[in-house]
Amino acid sequence: MSETFDEATTLKRRTFVAASTAAAGLPLLTSDRLPTSTTTPAPADRLSTVRLTVNGEQRTAQVDNRTSLLDLLREHLDLPGTKKGCDQGACGACTVLVDDRRVNACLTLAVMHQGARVTTIEGLARGEQLHPLQQAFIDHDGLQCGYCTPGQVMSGVACIAEGHTGSREEIREWMSGNLCRCGAYTNIVSAIEQTAKEA
Ligand code: FES
Ligand code: FES
Repeated sequence: MSETFDEATTLKRRTFVAASTAAAGLPLLTSDRLPTSTTTPAPADRLSTVRLTVNGEQRTAQVDNRTSLLDLLREHLDLPGTKKGCDQGACGACTVLVDDRRVNACLTLAVMHQGARVTTIEGLARGEQLHPLQQAFIDHDGLQCGYCTPGQVMSGVACIAEGHTGSREEIREWMSGNLCRCGAYTNIVSAIEQTAKEA
C-alpha cells in the first residue's frame, strides 16, 4: 500500500523529534533555518508578489522569496494566531490548513502557495460562534499555557476531517506531530474525540 502524504509527513516529523530527543543535551534547533523576518531589504530580483485566499479573503503581499508561509501570515498579513514554536518543523505550533490539508507553515515557502486557500486559527470561528473544536478545547480544559493550542486545534480539525478518530489511540497517533510542553494531551484527545462524535 502506498504511503499517503500525511503519513509520510507524520513519520518524518516523528523521526526528527526522536532523533533530537535521543541526542540528550543537544539543542533541538540548528542554524540551518529560514530567515525569521524580512526586515533586511531584499534585492528586487528576490521579491515576489504572493496572492492567497486566507480565511476566505483575498490577500496579497510582496515578500522575499525566502519568506516562510508562517512569516507571511504573522509578519505580512497580521495574523499572529499561528504560533512559531521551533521554526524547524518539530513542534506543530505553526500548523495551518492549505487547501484543507495540514501543513507546518514554518517549513514551506510562501511563494510555493500562490493561489492557495489557507485557513488559520483566526478563520475557524463564525463571528462570535467558536468552531466546535475550539469550544471542546474549553469544555475539556485542553489548554494550559495555550501556546501550542492554535496548532493543536488546526491539526485536530484536519484529524477529524481525515477520519482518524476511531479510537483515542488513533487520535494520539495522528496528533503526534503536535507537541505540548504543558502535557495537556489527555484533554486534547478528549476534545477531539467529542467533536468527532458530534460532527
Ligand atoms: S514552528 Fe514548530 S513546527 Fe513550525
Ligand atoms: S498548553 Fe502549553 S504548550 Fe500546550
